[in-house]
Amino acid sequence: MNLIFLGPPGAGKGTIAVRVKQSYHIPHISTGDLFRAHIHNKTEIGTQVQAILDSGELVPDELTIEMVRQRLQEDDSRNGFILDGFPRTIPQAEALEDFAQIDGVLNFELSKESIVKRLSGRRIAKQSGKVYHIHYNPPKVEGKCDESGEPLIQRPDDKPEAIENRLEVYQRQTAPLINYYAEKGLLIVINAEPSADEVFTQVKEKLENL
Ligand code: AP5
Repeated sequence: MNLIFLGPPGAGKGTIAVRVKQSYHIPHISTGDLFRAHIHNKTEIGTQVQAILDSGELVPDELTIEMVRQRLQEDDSRNGFILDGFPRTIPQAEALEDFAQIDGVLNFELSKESIVKRLSGRRIAKQSGKVYHIHYNPPKVEGKCDESGEPLIQRPDDKPEAIENRLEVYQRQTAPLINYYAEKGLLIVINAEPSADEVFTQVKEKLENL
């Protein structure tokens, strides 16, 4: 099962991808996570993309496409994958067709008000990779990861000025993919407003019909 998770920032793509990965035993490939790992490891790519991620702009297509192309060649992607945050532009979607066949594109729909609430309250644990929310998914001990105990931080692109920019970038560059995949008959609409448990139930139902 080769899946794309599409949707605005903060729609819960990463949260649901972790659950789909566990249930269906397919890797969760998040381009945002891959870029953040490069930044953390201070690689050449990391140096190139840090300011872009912090501002909420998109990394150039060529670099992003090549990173995903290489990642999909790894053994764990042979029996399926979840692409979370890729493609994000029409040229990325067109390039993907040259190296992968897609079975379904899940489009996570969420109002702007909910997006802002989710992003501004998100906190992450860098080492364990766990994602929390100060209201919707709080850690047991405030400000600390349940798994590693490390302090939770806010992503630089979850600050208010970056959130606005990310939403504009999403509307301009990524939203056109909704029609692109609808015309190909691949689009599956997910109402991302309810709780993560309810969203996951919807996703499982849709995947059973794939
Ligand atoms: P990326 O990391 O992909 O960010 P994004 O798409 O903006 O997605 P997010 O990670 O912000 O949100 P999400 O939908 O995964 O939500 P989450 O599950 O965390 O990209 C970051 C940057 O990398 C981009 O801006 C760009 O610069 C670069 N980049 C990445 N891909 C690229 C590409 N293809 N091309 C070019 N550049 C690229 O949930 C959000 C919060 O809500 C969490 O706190 C969570 O706990 C909470 N939550 C989740 N679900 C629910 C629910 N149902 N109810 C209540 N709370 C919930």
